[in-house]
Amino acid sequence: MDAELAGRVQEGDIVILDVGDGTSAVVHLHGATALSWKCSGQEILFLSKKAVLDSSKAIRGGIPLVFPQFGPWSCGPQHGFARNKRWSVESQPQKTGDGTVTCSLALSDDEDTRKAWDYRFKLVYTLELSKSSLTTRLTVDNTGDESFTFTTLMHSYFLTPDIGTTTVHGLKGLTYVDKVQNGQFQEDREAVSIPENYDRVYQKCPSSVFMECSTHSVSVNLSNFPDVVVWNPWSEKAKAMSDFGDEEYKTMVCVEAGSVSSPVQIDVGQKLSFQQTLQVQAKL
Ligand code: BG6
Repeated sequence: MDAELAGRVQEGDIVILDVGDGTSAVVHLHGATALSWKCSGQEILFLSKKAVLDSSKAIRGGIPLVFPQFGPWSCGPQHGFARNKRWSVESQPQKTGDGTVTCSLALSDDEDTRKAWDYRFKLVYTLELSKSSLTTRLTVDNTGDESFTFTTLMHSYFLTPDIGTTTVHGLKGLTYVDKVQNGQFQEDREAVSIPENYDRVYQKCPSSVFMECSTHSVSVNLSNFPDVVVWNPWSEKAKAMSDFGDEEYKTMVCVEAGSVSSPVQIDVGQKLSFQQTLQVQAKL
């Protein structure tokens, strides 16, 4: 972990996965939020300089987890409670035979979650770090005695040297709901550039999309995630966020793997898993 991040977090709040050669990930127990993923010394995730890391609010950057509701929620906070709860360590980071390091965090319902949303569940979030990829898998277990529905998403913030030359690929031909224009449209570009406030939910996505910037590309390989949200707040909205720098929209883009367009039903005793694998490719 670099010194700047180390100075912003408490040791007891984080878990570190380290595979050596400058490749590591740092996960905050608040929301099970991955804060940093360094691949051969290069930071891949965006974390706002103004992100609040004292567990008092959702973390602005990294990979916050959205559950059980994407977007505004009549029962509780926007994007649900999972990103605002302290998760426990289910299994400490350990090296597997092929050199991958893996760890799991867990969150179960409690009085607080049941007050907002009266269902019983256990979430297990597993991270697997290899030399060039980070896999994150969320397993939802219905531990109660009635079925429920939810939406979920991995809200990945990617760092880019320049949003002006950053594009997202793999979305051509897809229908998207545009939350800025308030409508449904079809994407006709292979390389989706982001020149203004973007907030789009692309539906029925292929199993892999990728973001590309001047230094590298990151593919987002999806398993059981039919949707991809592309979000950048741009300048006006950036200024309105207390935990986001006014100019930081120029160095980030969110490409979020989700199951959000229609609620997922989970029956009693059922377990459902949602996974993304992020794979970095450096440009020579
Ligand atoms: C995106 C949503 O996933 O998250 C946007 O599509 C939202 O509508 C953004 O503004 C950030 O949400 P929040 O709650 O972290 O400010």
